Amino acid sequence: MGSSRSSHYLALKQIAKVSNSAFSLRKICNSIAKTTAKAMGANGCRVSLLDPQKEYLLTVGTHGLSDLYLRKGPLDAHKSLPEVLDGKVVVIPDATKDERVQHPKIAETQRVCSILGAPILEREEVIGEIRVYTREPHQFSEADKSFLTSVANISAVLLERAELHQLLEKGYRVNEEQAKLVQMPQLPTTSLRPTEFAHPSEEEFARLLDFYRIEWLYEPRSFPLRWKGGEIAEMFTPDFYLPELDLYVELTTLKQNLITEKNRKLRQLKELYPEIKIKLLSKGDFHKLLAKYGYSPLGEAKIEGVSRILYSHSQIQRRIRTLAKRISHDYAGQRLVMVGILKGVVCFLADLMQHLSLPVTVDFMAISYYGGDDGQVVKITKDLDSSITGQHVLMIEDIVDTGMTLNYVLGHLLAHNPASLRVCTLLDKGARRLTNVPLDYIGFEIPDEFVVGYGLDYKGEYRNLPFIGILRAELIKEDKL
Ligand code: PRP
Repeated sequence: MGSSRSSHYLALKQIAKVSNSAFSLRKICNSIAKTTAKAMGANGCRVSLLDPQKEYLLTVGTHGLSDLYLRKGPLDAHKSLPEVLDGKVVVIPDATKDERVQHPKIAETQRVCSILGAPILEREEVIGEIRVYTREPHQFSEADKSFLTSVANISAVLLERAELHQLLEKGYRVNEEQAKLVQMPQLPTTSLRPTEFAHPSEEEFARLLDFYRIEWLYEPRSFPLRWKGGEIAEMFTPDFYLPELDLYVELTTLKQNLITEKNRKLRQLKELYPEIKIKLLSKGDFHKLLAKYGYSPLGEAKIEGVSRILYSHSQIQRRIRTLAKRISHDYAGQRLVMVGILKGVVCFLADLMQHLSLPVTVDFMAISYYGGDDGQVVKITKDLDSSITGQHVLMIEDIVDTGMTLNYVLGHLLAHNPASLRVCTLLDKGARRLTNVPLDYIGFEIPDEFVVGYGLDYKGEYRNLPFIGILRAELIKEDKL
């Protein structure tokens, strides 16, 4: 095995050329993996991308790795060479003995020995990584490390360009502040998913998961089911893995002979790998599954008015836990009065208070709006039940839009001389702000769209959706006619 500066140079030339070609992203990444492995005299290479939550590594291009090695299970970004995710180039001299390797047993059977990994950095942020693998023990040189870093740099530009391209195709405005838009939270979680599906029903299933913003990995793991003379004689690769639910899913059609065969494999899998959760799902079962996990208890009909889900139930809950931790820390040793304005705040306030490790009391206000001479005027229709004088008050809002409501209510509360007064809002629609209001805790900054669900309504409806979605533009337009 050997590599030289001239082979590195020729490889970089080839990689730059293919990166600028019109091939699909997957094809380009496979080609980068092949050229890189060859130039370094390595046996395999994998280009992976971090999912938006930075929890999993998704393969976007490979060369020379066995199917079983590739499908050894979802790669947990924090367990799998975490130093690469800190932005460092990492050398693993022997993957079978190294505790930094997530699946050392499979590395051994699949003859993976030395690994060199480099981060793919977009500006200073790690967005993925590139790794080369050798079958025999290998010492990587400084030239190898610098070559792999250059390949990672080219890949970063390519991946960023591919992402912008996909955003354009999806109708996002990427003309002004592109970099900002790429990081906006409402982007589809799967914007760069490179998957080619084996069956149209799988693609349909992936679309449904995307709609509900449920993270998924396609065929991430193969389970050996039968061995013959030390060799694997039969394997089973479930169609999907849903990390949030820690669940593997195999889709099934109505063909009875296929169902029987799949059931047999599932039974075998459960016997051999009792810790694995797996479900055989038909199209109809899917909504039952979603209902069970709290995604769509209303079924399909009610969410017809929603064009896209902005934040899933679990994303909201994750964010609430983080906010609650900060609030509990900031108010440690104090009592807190939470004040909510009816009605939109009910879901958020109820969930937030359950995660606060503080003594808390809760009070509500209700207000109405009427047209005055100089625009809308806010009027209190239900005031606080208890005095807040000398108390630490945290005002809770579901959404701050123009800021007029909050501005008025804060003035009212301050007149009662609380010991302190801060604001926590789940959603901040900064684009429509008319008055400057202080926001101390913000769940999500959202774009200028009409949002419903999780307490927020449109004409009194949609409050009971367990997620936050964007209302179909046609509905509002029809209303304005
Ligand atoms: C929403 C929300 C805020 C307010 C924010 O209430 O709960 O209180 O609007 O808007 P602003 O920043 O433009 O003042 P809404 O009037 O929809 O009543 P609801 O809470 O009963 O849904």
